[in-house]
Amino acid sequence: MARLNWGMIGGGEGSQIGPAHRLGAQADGNFVLAAGAMDVDAAKGKAYAESLGVAPDRAYGDWREMLAGETTRDDRVDLVTVATPNSTHFEITKAFLEAGFNVLCEKPMTMTVEEGEEIVRVAKASGKICAVNYCYSAYPMVREMREIVRTGGIGKVRLIVTNFSHGHHGDATDADNPRVRWRYDPSMAGVSGQFADCGIHALHMASFIAGDQVDKVSADFASTISSRVLEDDAMVNFRMAGGTVGRLWTSSVAIGRQHGFDIQVFGETGGMRWASEQPNQVFYTPVGGRTQIMEKGESGLSDEAARLSRVAIAHPEGFPLAVANIYVDLAAAIRGETRDGLPTAEDGLRSMAAVYAAVGSAESDGAWIDARPPMFR
Ligand code: NAI
Repeated sequence: MARLNWGMIGGGEGSQIGPAHRLGAQADGNFVLAAGAMDVDAAKGKAYAESLGVAPDRAYGDWREMLAGETTRDDRVDLVTVATPNSTHFEITKAFLEAGFNVLCEKPMTMTVEEGEEIVRVAKASGKICAVNYCYSAYPMVREMREIVRTGGIGKVRLIVTNFSHGHHGDATDADNPRVRWRYDPSMAGVSGQFADCGIHALHMASFIAGDQVDKVSADFASTISSRVLEDDAMVNFRMAGGTVGRLWTSSVAIGRQHGFDIQVFGETGGMRWASEQPNQVFYTPVGGRTQIMEKGESGLSDEAARLSRVAIAHPEGFPLAVANIYVDLAAAIRGETRDGLPTAEDGLRSMAAVYAAVGSAESDGAWIDARPPMFR
C-alpha cells in the first residue's frame, strides 16, 4: 500500500510529545514524514526537519509557509499533525482543514468552546478528518474495557473514579522553566492549567469506556504554587447523561506519582481497573466473584483489543504505540475505512465545554454547571 505523506507542525527538537508522534506515525509504514514546520524558531525548525530526512523545500520556517507550500503540490501531505502549544491549535487546525487537509490536533483542541464549535463546523464542511490525540484510548486493554461495557460485562456503569496526577511540576524552584511555565500561562494554555492539560484525558477516557457523555461538572481548582495563575490541582466531580457518577482528581504537584493516570469503572455486576503505568492489564471483578487479571495479547480478548495488541504477550505495550494506534486508524480513515474509536473534533469540543464548565464551577464554590457544548444541547 502506498505510503501517506505526513507533515508535522511543532514537535521540534527537545519537545515532549514530538518523538511519540514521529514514532507513532511512522511505526507501521503508513506515513512518511514529508514536510514540517517544527519549531517556533524558523531556522531551528528547518534544520531539525532536514535532519529527519525532510527535503529542504518542504522544511518550512513556519506553518503559514507550510500551508502555502503544501497546498500547491500534487504530492501534498495527506495528514498534518499539530503538536504546538495550545494557543496555536485553533488557527493552525482551522487553516489546514479549510485548505482541504486532514488534521490530527493535540489536546486541548482549542482555547475556547466557541473555537471548538468552529472546528467541528469547519471539519464537517471540509469533509476532512479532524482527530484529536486522546491517545490513551488507543491502548488495547482500554479498548477491551470499552468492549466489556458494550457487551454488558459489568452491567450498567454506576461509578467512574479516575486520576491523572503526577508530580513533575511540583518543584516551585523550576516553575519558571519555559517547558513548564506556558502550561500555567493563560495566554498560552487557556483558562485552565492541569485540568485542560491532563484532566481532559481522564474525562475523555471515562466517556470512551462508558459509551456515554458528560452532562455536568462540579470542580474545585487550586494553584498550590502561588505564582501560578492557573490551577495545578483540581478535583472534578461529573455526571453523565445516563446517570453515571464520576470523580476525577488531576494534579501536577503530586510529588512521587509518576504518570499517575488510572481509571476504575464500577457497574451493577462488576468492576474494572486500569493504570497507564501497567497498561497491559485490566483487573476485572464480577460481583461476588474473584478478581481476574486480563492480559494484553492473551486469547479470548475482543477483536478490537487483539487488533491493537502490537507487542507479543508478556512484553510491555509502550505509550508511543498508543499514539501509533491513532495513526493506524487515521491512515485507515483517510483510505476510506470506518474507524469508530478515533477521537474526533466533537470529543475535542466536549473537552473544551467541560473545561469552561469546570472553571465556572470552581469560581462559584463548586456549583454544578452544564458541561454540554451549546451545539449538542
Ligand atoms: P513543548 O513545549 O515540549 O514543545 C512544543 C514544540 O512546539 C517546540 O518544539 C516548539 O518549538 C514548537 N512550537 C511552538 N510554537 C510553534 C509554532 N507556532 N509553530 C511551530 N512550532 C512551534 O510542548 P509539548 O509538551 O510537546 O506539548 C505540545 C502540545 O502537545 C500541547 O498542546 C500539549 O498539551 C500536547 N501534549 C499532548 C500529550 C498527549 O498525551 N496527547 C502529551 C504531551 C503534550
